[in-house]
Amino acid sequence: MVDGTRIREGQTELIVPAQHSSGGPGKIYDDVFFNEQMAFNRDVSIMLLRALGRDMKVADCMAATGSRSVRIANEVPGTEVVANDINPAAIPYMEENIALNGLTNCRPSRKNLQVLLAEETFDYVDLDPFGSPIPFLHAAIQGCRRGAILAVTATDTAPLAGAHRTKCERRYCSTPMRGYMCHESGLRILMGAVARELAKFDMGMEPVLSFYADHYFRTYVRVRKGAGAADSTLAQLIHVALDPNTLQRSVSTVRDGEHIYGPMWGGKLFDREIVSKMDPTGMADEKRCRKMLDIWSEELDEVPFMYDVSEFSSHLKVPSPRYDTLLELLNKEGRSTRTHISPTGFKSVLSVDDIKRIFVQASETR
Ligand SMILES: C[S@@+](CC[C@H](N)C(=O)[O-])C[C@H]1O[C@@H](n2cnc3c(N)ncnc32)[C@H](O)[C@@H]1O
Repeated sequence: MVDGTRIREGQTELIVPAQHSSGGPGKIYDDVFFNEQMAFNRDVSIMLLRALGRDMKVADCMAATGSRSVRIANEVPGTEVVANDINPAAIPYMEENIALNGLTNCRPSRKNLQVLLAEETFDYVDLDPFGSPIPFLHAAIQGCRRGAILAVTATDTAPLAGAHRTKCERRYCSTPMRGYMCHESGLRILMGAVARELAKFDMGMEPVLSFYADHYFRTYVRVRKGAGAADSTLAQLIHVALDPNTLQRSVSTVRDGEHIYGPMWGGKLFDREIVSKMDPTGMADEKRCRKMLDIWSEELDEVPFMYDVSEFSSHLKVPSPRYDTLLELLNKEGRSTRTHISPTGFKSVLSVDDIKRIFVQASETR
């Protein structure tokens, strides 16, 4: 018996270390890691796997207590789950959680994930490391079956969002951005790194769902095999320029003196058909899931790069308009949406000059 505490997450009972993280990036207290705040992250996996609606063999490669594995096995019909972690102290938690929920479709495994993924292949491979997923990407790709979903978390937000530029350049071979675009570009740098790793093996990807939340980035991509898929994926990588004097953003397929940020993913973030099938009912944080699904289902993702109300307000030296008024006025001239990345962020198909004109008008109608 492990000396833990019993909680309920979604439709699943879990024993987790009595002392555990409840916010931020989390830290290990009791040999085995558990972060309550990541319940939303696990909710998204459940909703997404249910929305895919097919039988799947799942590898939760870095499972710790098995919270995600056990939830998937319990809450997603048609799944066969391997709960794997290299830490021997994790195994008793996994065993208890499997027994607690009476599961026969989840098995614990204590392997280095590199070994697990060399021995077996899966329809869904989940990487949830401390910090950067880069050291594990190669192995994760080897474990993907044709058409598999690869799910990757990155909690090394500081490098990806530009606070540690050189670290991002070393790890992700990409130059990050600071300022209002830092989180969207961080997410796209992570996706770009996944795309380039896949291309090395003549594979490509189609984005299913990618987001920034709390302290981490998360991407789910569908893996496509073949040199053609690899080439069309690489063709969607971009370099970005930002002119702080005008707020103009522009993208280029090549790096030049202006387009100094990247490379990063310039394609879509969402597969809307799948997002539309994701159902928040019964999730641990149903309210948050509902709100995010609402935003993800409408968020413009063809235009890489959000703007922020404060960015325009300080640039134009005018007061911030009401957010809803601004979006309403923008939408009269061209499609503009919220973004999940920030409650004061927005996206628009309009030119920066048009946004500035409308912003001043919105500011005056406060
Ligand atoms: C952030 S925790 C995972 C949390 C877990 N997914 C959850 O939702 O509660 C990262 C885990 O990765 C495990 N780990 C690190 N390197 C590993 C490796 N090479 N193979 C398998 N597991 C590994 C650690 O032991 C740790 O439990």
